Amino acid sequence: MKFSQRTAWDTGENVFAARVREARANAGLLDLTAANPTACGFTYDGPALLQPLSEPAAALYQPEPFGMRAAREAVARYYADAGASISTANICLTTSTSEAYSYLFRLLCDPGDEVLVATPSYPLFDFIAGLDGVRLVEYPLLYHDGWLIDSHAMRLAMTERTRAVIVVHPNNPTGHFCRSAERTMLEALCVERGLALIVDEVFLDYGFNDEAGPSFLANKGSALTFVLSGVSKVCGLPQMKCSWIAARGPAADVDAALARLEIVADTFLSMNAPVQHALPRWLRDRKDLQQQITARMRSNLVHIDQALAGTACTRLVAEAGWTCVLRVPRNVHGMPFAEAALEAGVLVQPGNFYGLPEGRVVLSLLTPSEVWSAGLQRLLKIANG
Ligand SMILES: Cc1ncc(COP(=O)(O)O)c(C=O)c1O
Repeated sequence: MKFSQRTAWDTGENVFAARVREARANAGLLDLTAANPTACGFTYDGPALLQPLSEPAAALYQPEPFGMRAAREAVARYYADAGASISTANICLTTSTSEAYSYLFRLLCDPGDEVLVATPSYPLFDFIAGLDGVRLVEYPLLYHDGWLIDSHAMRLAMTERTRAVIVVHPNNPTGHFCRSAERTMLEALCVERGLALIVDEVFLDYGFNDEAGPSFLANKGSALTFVLSGVSKVCGLPQMKCSWIAARGPAADVDAALARLEIVADTFLSMNAPVQHALPRWLRDRKDLQQQITARMRSNLVHIDQALAGTACTRLVAEAGWTCVLRVPRNVHGMPFAEAALEAGVLVQPGNFYGLPEGRVVLSLLTPSEVWSAGLQRLLKIANG
């Protein structure tokens, strides 16, 4: 049988994944990577969440390429609450942020075209880009008591085939916001080279303190910009499968992009009616779960900073998001740190999964507090030999 080259993946399980599977089968694993909010002990009002899905109107099929108007208006209100104004006409609903990326890759790129993506970052894009025939080219983020874009390296990474730059704001797993000066640099560079900016803001509402970074929609921008987000993180509802693209920038570019995007979206019409009917209610009620998640993140941060004081590990400076990065000893008993931790019954993500250098591991701030404190205690024992 012949299959496509784009799906010629190595589908075998890697050694670390096999060990994790075995460790999960044994009771007592302290999992510091749990990132599924529906399985982290938060309180969801199940009946209230499900009730709007059964509205009689949801039984009607109203195919709209960008999604139903009332649902898109709810997304516009979400941005208005954050001080950003976006027209409902510029919002396209998708079933996930991954689908949103795929729509944009198909809108902007022909096979072999290039999109710039930060490293370290979440390795979600590799598969989407591969499936859409797009080549990802990395631009480095530098760490000096905080993260910043290496703008010189970004320029060098651009070629004739570059079509877009992806910025994750705040980034996963580094948890830093793109600063205002970087944003100005990015927009100027995109305008100069005729590129689009794709800004993933799924973690925008999860600041470590009350000073959240502003959305890229909050100010007038000069570059054609697509802001992505969705209920998976904004409402803590990954099971509901609803995200969006919000487009802004010079009117002629936005109009041309929306006309084409409409045909991409119309080809799939992937949104279902009940979820669109429920979206306004879920967005209206998002604060309850956001507050639970933020309280967990902040209390885990206080705990980890106390626990790490005077040890061989440090937490890298960050401002937002569901993860934190630890600098740890590279090797323990001849093994990479994450493997040694797993052997001792603690699951952490090896930093190389995200393109971080050796001696870095990533933890989920959504981890339930008891697991967090027991896991950290065990981690530090390993780190301190
Ligand atoms: C930065 C980033 N973007 C997008 C996603 C995926 O979001 P969705 O569930 O909407 O596809 C994730 C998932 O963790 C993420 O970390």
